[in-house]
Formats: sequence, structure tokens, C-alpha cells
Amino acid sequence: MGKEKNKCNIVVIGHVDSGKSTSTGHLIYKCGGISEREIKKFEAEAKLIGRESFKYAWVLDKLKAERERGITIDITLWKFETEHFEFSIIDAPGHKDFLKNMITGTSQADVAILVISAALGEFEAGFGKDGQTREHALLASTMGIKQAVVAINKMDVINYNEERFNDIKGEVGNYLTKVGFQEKNVKFVAYSGFKGDNLIEKSENMDWYKGQTLYDALDTLNPIERQTNRPLRLPLQDVYKIKGIGTVPVGRVETGYLKPNSNVTIEPGNFQTNCKTVEKYHKQLDIAEPGDNIGFNIKGIGTKEIRRGCVVGNTNDCPPKVAESFIGQVIILNVPNKISPGYTPIVDCHTCHIACKFDSFVSKLDRRSGITIEDNPTELKNNEAALIKIVPSKPMVVEKFTEFAPLGRFAVRDMRRTVAVGVVKEVNHVEAKKIVKGEVIKKKTKKWLGYYSKIVNIINKIVNNKNLLIILYKLNINLLII
Ligand code: GTP
Ligand code: MG
Repeated sequence: MGKEKNKCNIVVIGHVDSGKSTSTGHLIYKCGGISEREIKKFEAEAKLIGRESFKYAWVLDKLKAERERGITIDITLWKFETEHFEFSIIDAPGHKDFLKNMITGTSQADVAILVISAALGEFEAGFGKDGQTREHALLASTMGIKQAVVAINKMDVINYNEERFNDIKGEVGNYLTKVGFQEKNVKFVAYSGFKGDNLIEKSENMDWYKGQTLYDALDTLNPIERQTNRPLRLPLQDVYKIKGIGTVPVGRVETGYLKPNSNVTIEPGNFQTNCKTVEKYHKQLDIAEPGDNIGFNIKGIGTKEIRRGCVVGNTNDCPPKVAESFIGQVIILNVPNKISPGYTPIVDCHTCHIACKFDSFVSKLDRRSGITIEDNPTELKNNEAALIKIVPSKPMVVEKFTEFAPLGRFAVRDMRRTVAVGVVKEVNHVEAKKIVKGEVIKKKTKKWLGYYSKIVNIINKIVNNKNLLIILYKLNINLLII
């Protein structure tokens, strides 16, 4: 009997044009996820608009705007297998205008492939102050990614130069350890996503290279630890209406498990319903576990009522609650000057993207030791760490990092850049009673159900009572005669 493969979600990140879609598309093609005929078709179509080199990228870049501009805009998810793993791979955009999509993709991943172009000028642009390489690496670390494969791409463009590879490896490696990656959890691969050197087969163009191919680096990742013994938390990524089925929310199980025919609670909104079926890649599941990207069918809740950012839990086992406020341990990274209480940036936490007020600064901390160095500071500058009371502008679910890590870390965004990152230390919940919407919905449903059952009862009595029918019949006739 074959052993079940490890499941792993990978996000492919890195500076714009570093070759993320090309490498991912080529890898999927080589692993049999897409046919030669389809690649030929993409090649011909891409050639027509003068973008022949994007044939592999087109496996993932499907939107018209993506193909015309030659960039990725939205995230795309594909599945492929290696000998030991069953991977879901998310191709993220590198362009900084679409960082929100990159963060959403990263929030669902266990491992990151950080693609870096080795081409002259391209590595420098990506790793520089305005490049996305550092920002993506930092965000990946904040979002809890522990393992990374640094994929040093476009080796063909630099003549497979060993020295250049080592320089890039040194610089990026230093940076990754600074932002929290452990050296033992980071691998470096020299390859060409377009030509295919060291993608799956060892390249003959790099005799000096003793490392792994990209395929082997992925196949030998450490298995991902899953939090199955915690209560269910499933942040929604999107909600679809599917003809003949109804409302189908989709997202990734972060902790616990979800089974068909179980009672679930969705917050914000205090929606309580039954999960009918659970599906993964069009296959029905008996159980969805942490790491599974799934869709599930619920009844009685419209697609407008719940959305990305909502969190699903098990009604009978510690369901999620809305946070009235929370205490975040925040590191300020990139504010233009300094910030004061009242500052209201966007907070990205799991799949949520909500404006939150930094209501009060509780204390300033030493970044390394975490010891308080000042109570109630009035302002904070870059590189300072603090405990901050944060108040969401709309209902939002967050969790303590120590209890539900994937729902307890966040990135702070302002003026289209990441200005701070943090983890949730304490949550002050809104009492369920206060959620007006949930109560109204329940009352309305009950009232309506009451009327409905009364009408059904009356009709039943009439139908079952012949005398009553005859009387009614006569009455009707009399009325007609009159
Ligand atoms: P965004 O998603 O927009 O951030 O870009 P991306 O990182 O997905 O890059 P994409 O795969 O779209 O590739 C950008 C360009 O680089 C295309 O013209 C690719 O053909 C080219 N490219 C990618 N990998 C290689 C490589 O290994 N060698 C060479 N020579 N070109 C490459
Ligand atoms: Mg791309």
C-alpha cells in the first residue's frame, strides 16, 4: 500500500518579473499538470502579441490584463505532486500595486519559494529599497512561514556564473535570518525557470553547483506540522454562489477539522448553519484538515452576507468571536516620520483587510528582550516595538498568536507599503448578545417559520377534515346563490 503523501501549500513570491509564473508554469508542465498541446497553444497565442517568452507564465496568468501587461495581478492556485508531497502552489503577483493579493496568498501558505532574478540589475532592483524582495520575505516571515526555498533564477542570463550566485546567496541569506528565518530552514537553488536548468533535472551548464534542483528542494522539505487538536478555524477567502448548490464559501482550514453535516458558526455576523458537504478540487471529503483548501456548502446564508475575512468555527467547540479591540505587539518598520495614538492604518490579518485605529500605546518594548522600557509612550518611530491597543473599524475576528497562530499575526499597511508587523497578545471580545445582526436574523427566521407552520397546519386540518370541506363547499355555493 502506498503511503499517504504530505500536504503542503506553497506560495511563490518575489520581485516583479523575477520569473515566478514562468518557473511555476514550467514546473507544473514538467510534473504533468498541463499537456504539451496546451503549452504549444499558449506559445502561439503569446507570440501573436509579441510575448513569446511568457508561454509558461500563461499557464497561471489567465486574465486578459495579465497577459497584455505581462504581469500577474491575482493569485492562482494549482496542484501538483512530487514523490513525497502533494503540493498546492499559489503564484503571487510581484508588482507592488497588487501586494494585497500577495499577502492573501501568503496567508494561506506553509512554505515560500522566494524567486530572485540573478540577471544584472534585476537582482539589485529587487533587493533595493524600492524592490519587493525584502518586503515579500519579511511579510512571509510575519505571516508565520518557517521554511523557504530561495530560487535564484535566470542563471542562463548570467552565463551560469558561480560567483554571482554566491554573492546573491550571501546577501539574501543574511537578510532572511534578520527577519526571523532559521538558517537550517532555508535552501538555495541555482536554476533557470525558462530554460529548465536544475528545475527537475540536474543542469549540465553548472558543474560547480552541488545543491539540489528545485524539484528535489521541494520534495525534501520538512513535513508540515498540523494543529488538528485545536478547535476549528477557517478564514474565508471568497464566497461563491453555485447554480443548483447554493452558497459555497472557500478557504483554508488553519486549525481543527471540518466534517460534512456539522454545525458551524461564521463570524462576524453570528451566522449559525449546517455545513452540508465539503469539497476539495471537486472531490467530496469526509473530513477537511489543517492545510486543506476547500469549498463547502451551507444553507440559508446569502453570498452577500458573508465574505473574505469571515472566520468559520465549530458551533459546539469554542466558535470564533468578534474582537472589540486587541493588544498587538507591533514592530514599526517603515513610517515616514513617527506615529501617535489615533493613527488608523490597514491591518492585514489572515484573509482580513480592515482599517484599525491604534487607539493607545500601552508600552514601548525592547525589541530583542521584550522588556518594557516606557509606559504609555506618546509616539513611536521606525525600529521601535510596542504593545498597542488596536480597535478595528469594522467587525473583525483575530485570535491570540499563542492559541491560533495563523489568525494571530498581522501586517500593517499604509500608503501602499508595509509600515509595521505584529502578533496578537490579547483579545477583548464583543459579547455575542451585542451582535444585533445575528439576533435579528434569528428572530426573523423564527417568526417566519412560525407563520409558515401555522398555515401548513390549517391547510392540513382542512384537507383532513371532510365535514369542514363540505361546510366550506356549501358556504361557497350559498354565497354564490346570494
Ligand atoms: P509578476 O508576476 O508580474 O511579478 O512576474 P513573474 O515573476 O511571474 O515573471 P514572469 O514569469 O512573468 O517572467 C517575466 C519575464 O522573465 C518573462 O519574459 C520570462 O520569460 C522571463 N524569464 C523568466 N524566467 C527566466 C529564465 O530563467 N531565463 C530567462 N532568460 N528569462 C526568464
Ligand atoms: Mg507572475
